[in-house]
Amino acid sequence: MSVQKQDVEFTNIVKNILDNEEFKKIDKIEHHGISRLDHSMRVAYYSYKVAKFLRLDYVKTARGGLLHDFFLSPEDRTTKDRFVSTFVHPKEALQTAKKHFELSRKEEDMIRSHMFPINPSVPKYAESWVVSTVDKVVAVNELSLKFKFKLKYAYSLALLFMINFVR
Ligand SMILES: [Fe+2]
Ligand SMILES: [Fe+2]
Repeated sequence: MSVQKQDVEFTNIVKNILDNEEFKKIDKIEHHGISRLDHSMRVAYYSYKVAKFLRLDYVKTARGGLLHDFFLSPEDRTTKDRFVSTFVHPKEALQTAKKHFELSRKEEDMIRSHMFPINPSVPKYAESWVVSTVDKVVAVNELSLKFKFKLKYAYSLALLFMINFVR
């Protein structure tokens, strides 16, 4: 069982989202080399922990964090589709989330602004800054694992080049 699901309070806060049939579909979508649901659960959980530590609204933070990437992309996405999605997906996620859940202004803002500064929507609440920051930390971690082998290859080439250069 994941660390997120072992936390009873966190699980109770996000239960109605996790039980939603439309939301469950994001488990089938690849995102940073893992499922979009796993990515969203990490962002939601660590944002919830940070918000709790900072005495912010951790209930809304957990919900906003979980819904921040709630958009359904087609399986046959091209590289161009992925690139365009980087800029437009917060808006798509907000539309999808509003269609299936009752959201507060704060939760809406967390979804809308999580890609700041790539996306010009500036976070309006401290909780939105938490989700946006945690999302970046989690994404860098996931992407570094996804491209691990390519990085190893690049390091080997760099090493080979240096050996040749210094001898
Ligand atoms: Fe995102
Ligand atoms: Fe994300």
